[in-house]
Amino acid sequence: MVSGASNKPLLVMQGIRVVFQARSGLLRTVPVTAVDGVSLAIAPGETVAVLGESGSGKTTLGRVSLRLLRPTGGRVFFEGKDITGLNEAHLKAFRRQAQGIFQDPFSSLDPHMNIQQILAEPLIVHGVDRAKRPELLEWALEQVRLTPAGDYLPKFPHTLSGGQRQRVGIARALVLRPRYIVADEPVSMVDASSRAEILYLLRELQDRHHIAFLYITHDIATARHFSHRIAVMYLGRVVELGPSAGVINEPLHPYTQALIGAVPEPDPANRLRMRPTIAGEPPDPSHIPPGCRFHPRCPVAVAGKSESIDPELREVRPGHFVACHRYV
Ligand SMILES: Nc1ncnc2c1ncn2[C@@H]1O[C@H](COP(=O)(O)OP(=O)(O)OP(=O)(O)O)[C@@H](O)[C@H]1O
Ligand SMILES: [Mg+2]
Repeated sequence: MVSGASNKPLLVMQGIRVVFQARSGLLRTVPVTAVDGVSLAIAPGETVAVLGESGSGKTTLGRVSLRLLRPTGGRVFFEGKDITGLNEAHLKAFRRQAQGIFQDPFSSLDPHMNIQQILAEPLIVHGVDRAKRPELLEWALEQVRLTPAGDYLPKFPHTLSGGQRQRVGIARALVLRPRYIVADEPVSMVDASSRAEILYLLRELQDRHHIAFLYITHDIATARHFSHRIAVMYLGRVVELGPSAGVINEPLHPYTQALIGAVPEPDPANRLRMRPTIAGEPPDPSHIPPGCRFHPRCPVAVAGKSESIDPELREVRPGHFVACHRYV
């Protein structure tokens, strides 16, 4: 598999920080630091998986990379162009190149539109010539194996299975022929029988069209099969980043080690799914611990350091980075 590392990056995020003001009681708000200084570059055709427990900031980072959300701090570049502060009018060219596939195939498709309307909408928004549209719709449905296209175009989402709806969601993301797709837990709400097929399909699209993916998941097994590199997030920070095989076979960060050491599930469909096996309180992004943010739960914290100094992400093997005091 290509690592894509030698290519010029397609998408670059530099020092991304996102702070939300969350409600706490009736009148008060508390700052929630969902993403806290993440830098990540994705090459054309490369897939980077983002792994981490619930609340670690994966979706927020994905939304920033699509500029659905403007970060509180840091910069986003696409094809070398700074898109951090652009308004919708100036984001139009980017929107054509960057798409999302979301978790919930039931709420992400408008129930009042048929498949033809759902797929044509992005083409209309981006001013694609009317005469070219039917061919593109057919092409997109073929890519996701909803064929013959004519059978599906007049259907409404409620008449489709969850797996078929997610295929429509993927077709909609593809129809403008993007270069970058964020797939945020694309199969977690799809019935188990369709999961493997849909992941296989995404893998095929990745190879065939040289699309870069940010693949957000809880599932270590699919991250390994589907991605070139894995970024492990903990409390808004990337704590480990490296080639997928390296991160899975030789995890460096104690958090990654704990995730991967999770007791295998007897059910093969769930095997290697991340389970909360880590001791201590679940992390709270409104109270990020000082020093290494993982230290209160870390079995190998370095006394005198971990509780006061925030470790930087350092390259300790070629292309394999970790933020941990044990690797100095
Ligand atoms: N719009 C918002 N307003 C306030 N807080 C938010 C908002 N969106 C996310 N958060 C908070 O930011 C943190 C990170 O959320 P995010 O959805 O990015 O996590 P995640 O890693 O995608 O989790 P999951 O695996 O459950 O999808 C969470 O504590 C969440 O409650
Ligand atoms: Mg999420």
